[in-house]
Amino acid sequence: MPVKEYRTPVSNKPVLIGNEAKEDNIIFAIESSCDETAAAIVKNGREVLADVVASQIKTHIEFGGVVPEVAAREHLEAVNLVIAQAFEQSGLTPDDITAFAATVGPGLVGSLLVGMNAAKALAVAHDKPFIGINHLNAHVCANYLDSDLVPPFVALLISGGHTQIIQVKSWDEQSIIGETIDDAIGEAYDKVARLIGLPYPGGVNLDKLAQSGNPYAYKLPEAKLKNEFDFSFSGLKTASLQLIQKLKKECDELPKADIAASFQENVTSTLFKKTKNAADRINAKTVVLAGGVAANSEIRKKFFALENKGYKIYAPKMKYCTDNAAMIGSCAYFLTNNISSLNVEVFSRMTN
Ligand code: KG4
Ligand code: ZN
Repeated sequence: MPVKEYRTPVSNKPVLIGNEAKEDNIIFAIESSCDETAAAIVKNGREVLADVVASQIKTHIEFGGVVPEVAAREHLEAVNLVIAQAFEQSGLTPDDITAFAATVGPGLVGSLLVGMNAAKALAVAHDKPFIGINHLNAHVCANYLDSDLVPPFVALLISGGHTQIIQVKSWDEQSIIGETIDDAIGEAYDKVARLIGLPYPGGVNLDKLAQSGNPYAYKLPEAKLKNEFDFSFSGLKTASLQLIQKLKKECDELPKADIAASFQENVTSTLFKKTKNAADRINAKTVVLAGGVAANSEIRKKFFALENKGYKIYAPKMKYCTDNAAMIGSCAYFLTNNISSLNVEVFSRMTN
């Protein structure tokens, strides 16, 4: 079980964080990697004492997607407000906090800087450690919130920027079994949603529309890849575009619900099949969903059906699937390989 010693920036006092720390750990966490400004307070990695999310959806809806410069400016306007609200919600003061954590990457650099600098400033002002968090690790850690999950398990990380099957061997040790070689699944959802005229954010709107469509109306292709656990969604995106163009010519009214349902059936079947095969290959009986697309109704349905076949399935509560700060607070507690230095810089993408 992990525990790590962090140092406070002013007095250099040692602070133990993690499962084996003698005292309760209360982490104040900030997330600002994309289009949500969020602050949360999490006790011992699992108990959420405050959870505040300021969404920028209304701003970006007119552009049909996230505009980085606009996002950074909105984070600046919102960050002090969400911090104040998180303290208010919990009834705690900075003195009660063990450490301040923030996402340092991957994400939009201008946006990340806002949240990270706010957390660093709080850490210095109150002489508490600062902990820099990897956003992808945090998405997986969302499954520890309000739950009894412990490693080992297989995680399917499906978000706007990433699609990975991960073998989580212990709290700190993980390896990637498969990943997308081109588009991320969330990106594919958002692109196809735009093609059928749904507003941003596309994924959740396509999911809703798909409920009223026929999932077998149209056959869309599945990529064949060298590594059977890798994904590719760019061919599917092109095939969807061609189908939509053809149907626009043939039909008076575009059968949007049938297209949405067919697309959803195609991608959820692929994600399900590959993740189950990967779990079986390494004899894992616990499978965990993570990331914004883990909120998808069909993904959840397909995976939770496995519980009748001897598997244990975990997925975060809906509000902890998409970007939030509670998952950052959990990650700061459970993973000991987080970076803790005021010199840590933000980063936009993962480099292997
Ligand atoms: O994890 P997340 O909030 O941000 C990233 O780290 O990327 O994921 C956002 C992605 C977006 O592409 C969004 O369209 C997708 O998650 N998403 C969904 C659903 N809810 C959010 N995709 C499919 N079905 C949903 N219900
Ligand atoms: Zn995310």
